Amino acid sequence: MPKLTVKIGSLKFSNPTELASGILCNGALLRRTATEGGAGAVVTKSLTNERREGYPNPTIVGVRAGLINAIGLSNPGYAEFLRHELPLAREGKVCVMVSVAGSDVGEFLRISSAAEDSGADGVELNLSCPHVKKRGLEMGSDPELVHEVVKEVKGALKIPVHAKFGLTDRLTDAALKAEGAGADAIVAINTIKATAIDIHARKPVLSNIYGGLSGPAIHSIAVRCVYELYEILSIPLIGSGGVEDWQTAVEFLLAGARAVQIGSAVAIKELNVFNKVARGIERYLDTCGFKSVEEIVGCAHG
Ligand SMILES: Cc1cc2nc3c(=O)[nH]c(=O)nc-3n(C[C@H](O)[C@H](O)[C@H](O)COP(=O)(O)O)c2cc1C
Repeated sequence: MPKLTVKIGSLKFSNPTELASGILCNGALLRRTATEGGAGAVVTKSLTNERREGYPNPTIVGVRAGLINAIGLSNPGYAEFLRHELPLAREGKVCVMVSVAGSDVGEFLRISSAAEDSGADGVELNLSCPHVKKRGLEMGSDPELVHEVVKEVKGALKIPVHAKFGLTDRLTDAALKAEGAGADAIVAINTIKATAIDIHARKPVLSNIYGGLSGPAIHSIAVRCVYELYEILSIPLIGSGGVEDWQTAVEFLLAGARAVQIGSAVAIKELNVFNKVARGIERYLDTCGFKSVEEIVGCAHG
């Protein structure tokens, strides 16, 4: 059968599916995502310095082609998570990436260094949350700030550093800056700012009004971003947005991603989605006469 393992720089994923950040938040669930769900790698919830309660309910709403969430980066704080949850997540025996959501360079550096010391396989810098001020999208759309954050974190860490971007006008500039600063991979894209109105209450559904749209609704936009980034970058890409079956995953691989993240489909469908996507990719490769995933990465480019 074709080889499903993929190398993302120095990391080896057992198959090209990775749990996206923020979907399953405790260590035991991250372990299950690998052992039962079949994920080739997992990413933790984005961590901050201090514990964050997040926004009041409702924080998530199902819409026609996906979800809109405004969780507000709720997490127990990095120290608590790294001490109690990371060890459980690591028992899944796949790469565990710790997602970091800093509000300045110092916070990114502190949490990333602690993640390395606690045994993370890599860190994913969340430069892209669309609904929390001063964290995320505001940073990812400032290429100079992206350069500074990635350079500082890379300078301090031995483990790989992935930079995750959202949809901004500066996406290609920011990704080039991240690559120039030494990022080992780029993840594209995070959720897209959106809202939903309750037509009976005649007001927004989410307590925060705005949230991030994910799922099938954003898939073609995410594929476009990966396709564009593949044209200009040399480092590996990881596609994120609307993967729910092997076809949507293969589309990302052909556009230039070496792996795909799966988020909303875990909530909307099932934990086993990773196994199903991986088996589907394997059958596709076999039927088309390819020997490995790596052979089809970027194949859609001329
Ligand atoms: C409920 C929920 C919480 C999320 N939390 C985070 C987060 O903490 N950090 C982050 O980088 N992305 C977060 N995301 C974005 C996902 O990691 C992913 O990039 C996005 O949902 C697109 O993938 P999907 O269409 O497969 O869900 C979250 C998404 C959802 C639906």
